[in-house]
Amino acid sequence: MRDPRYDVLFEPVKIGPLTAKNRFYQVPHCNGGGYRDPTAAAEMRRVKSEGGWGVIFTEQVEIHHSSEITPFIELRIWDEDDMPGLARMADAIHSNGALAGIELAYSGTNGPNLYTREVPMGPMHSPILTFTSDPVQARAMDKEDIRNLRHWHRLAYRRAKRAGYDIMCLYGAHGFGILQHFLSRRTNQRGDEYGGSLENRARLLKELLSDARDEVGDACAVAVRLSLDEMAGEQGFSNAELRDLIGLHAELPDIWDFAHGTWEACSGTSRFKPEGAQEDLIRGIKQLTSKPVVGVGRFTSPDLMVRQIKQGILDFIGAARPSIADPFLPNKIDEGRVEDIRECIGCNICVTGDMTQSLSRCTQNSSFMEEWRKGWHPERMKPAASARKILVVGAGPTGLSAAHRLGLRGYEVALSETSTELGGRVARECRLPGLSAWGRVRDYRQGQIEKMANVAVYRESKLAADDVFDLGFSDVAIATGSTWRRDGVARYHTLPINIAAGMPLFTPDDVMDGKLPAGHVMIYDDDHYYMGSVLAELLIAKGCRVSFVTPSTKIAEWSVNTLEQGQIQRRLLELGVEVRTSHAVVEVGAGSVILACAYTGRLGEISCDGVLLVTARLPDDSLYTDLMAQKAKWADSGIETVKAIGDAQAPAAIAWATYAGHRYAEEFDTPDIGDALPFKREVAGLKN
Ligand SMILES: Cc1cc2nc3c(=O)[nH]c(=O)nc-3n(C[C@H](O)[C@H](O)[C@H](O)COP(=O)(O)O)c2cc1C
Ligand code: SF4
Repeated sequence: MRDPRYDVLFEPVKIGPLTAKNRFYQVPHCNGGGYRDPTAAAEMRRVKSEGGWGVIFTEQVEIHHSSEITPFIELRIWDEDDMPGLARMADAIHSNGALAGIELAYSGTNGPNLYTREVPMGPMHSPILTFTSDPVQARAMDKEDIRNLRHWHRLAYRRAKRAGYDIMCLYGAHGFGILQHFLSRRTNQRGDEYGGSLENRARLLKELLSDARDEVGDACAVAVRLSLDEMAGEQGFSNAELRDLIGLHAELPDIWDFAHGTWEACSGTSRFKPEGAQEDLIRGIKQLTSKPVVGVGRFTSPDLMVRQIKQGILDFIGAARPSIADPFLPNKIDEGRVEDIRECIGCNICVTGDMTQSLSRCTQNSSFMEEWRKGWHPERMKPAASARKILVVGAGPTGLSAAHRLGLRGYEVALSETSTELGGRVARECRLPGLSAWGRVRDYRQGQIEKMANVAVYRESKLAADDVFDLGFSDVAIATGSTWRRDGVARYHTLPINIAAGMPLFTPDDVMDGKLPAGHVMIYDDDHYYMGSVLAELLIAKGCRVSFVTPSTKIAEWSVNTLEQGQIQRRLLELGVEVRTSHAVVEVGAGSVILACAYTGRLGEISCDGVLLVTARLPDDSLYTDLMAQKAKWADSGIETVKAIGDAQAPAAIAWATYAGHRYAEEFDTPDIGDALPFKREVAGLKN
């Protein structure tokens, strides 16, 4: 039963001519699938409808072929070919009573048009401002272009309405939509009635919103998504200007949707942004308009959500990542099951799906984007197929996920763990600077398992092969994790390097075990994700002098995909870390290290007191290999299957580990599918 404290979150709220059934508003978010995987994307939204969201949006939808953001894969509403996919998504959203929103985007100065090869257009002549620095400029739009733009929007409103959408939202946030390019003096230096004063820069916004109302009448609501602050100093569209704009056009849309200026700032990771981080920028805006206001802030705490409403900050709790990590968040609050919420950890692995043009994945919700492809569900599992007893060895993210999901299926499960604490690498890593929210990976699964009578947990139980033979399980999943290498092998070196015995040498495991280097420490990062930079922060805090060496041109290169790279590099530079990019450690001497330039091979030497190698990892798979070597004994012990999963099979990021555990639980008892694909896919139909 719902706690009455949360009743306010379930009040219906009017949006123009429509009413949302509650205040849970899934703001637009892409998923790496978009137009390439339309049914996978639609089914992902259907699950959110089932989970109780009042409003559910598409990702950004490109309205016209003259502006698109290839290589990123979003949706399109260019012509009739796009309609079936869009209608399928609207139907899915409606399936449990949510309002369907569509975010209409004309990318302008942000769209390089790599696919359509049209000449991009924006308010003024400007290079395309996107992640990929394409050698392309947008040309300045003339009056006829602006008339065309209005016409293309009208076509999009008509199609979106016909496809079944209830809310038409114009995209002008994150630097990604042409509305923002017109609103900002940074990207609009026009001399006509569309440039100059704020009123002029807002003219296009006013015209597009009026046209929308004209097209959709009372059938749909009209929304706009704007940046709270462009974060571009004096020149940019600031929070103060935004408030002036709302003063000018307070009642123009049916709902105002606000998101922080850059995508990096808006979807900040938990390492850099706390929950509710946009509150100061949005507070007071609601008082400037009678229309409802939606805002975001990685909201997973119902009490904080209630405060946003009761203090008059927001009318709707906007959520992208919390809805990905737990599509059933509203229903869980409604049913008085707050402790069952699978809270987003703020890692932005979901963003990497978009950035790498692959299907998105989520560390916490392994079924995200597998709802259609594999038929997975975030809350339900198919029932056990037989009375098997499964032993899961290792209670890290993989083992916990496997045990939890097998338990949901109704199997009898034993989860054994060597240490006293559950969580494996997650328990260790969440103690590192900025990563405390990552402990939620363990907390959620441990909390769920503790409620299951059919899952038994054995701590301080280090198992050898003979123990496993004695225990009488039919299936054994080995989820024993991995260990960081101490021989320099990773990407630059695929063979071990020379390391002198006299140099104190450390790995991330040593540091997490409390064995800390001292003095001048060289971190050699050939891993390129978070670990090297997080350990640099830790060592600086412990009083070390830190040199950071990487063969890459950037610190933590892969974190471009989690939107963190700029913040990580800034933080390390501000902390006084001495950064040496484009260099590899080629030899470790007793008191110094030989470096080679990654481009020229030119050698140099740096003296230091210790070296911390953040390189590759090796699976801890000795139990697995022992069991596989004694296959002849399996039948006598009743063992039918043994499988290594997660890092124990091949180390990767935590999202891969939770996925591996979930996958094991879904598939361990399914028949061998031979050469068939283990997922469904959509292949574009051929045309003449
Ligand atoms: C994977 C992902 C994709 C996103 N794609 C879009 C998008 O297509 N359009 C948009 O306006 N915002 C997009 N955003 C930003 C979100 O709508 C939201 O403003 C931001 O993530 C902050 O909300 P949250 O803390 O609830 O995630 C995306 C965010 C994520 C995490
Ligand atoms: S991938 Fe990480 S940030 Fe994204 S929704 Fe999942 S837990 Fe949250």
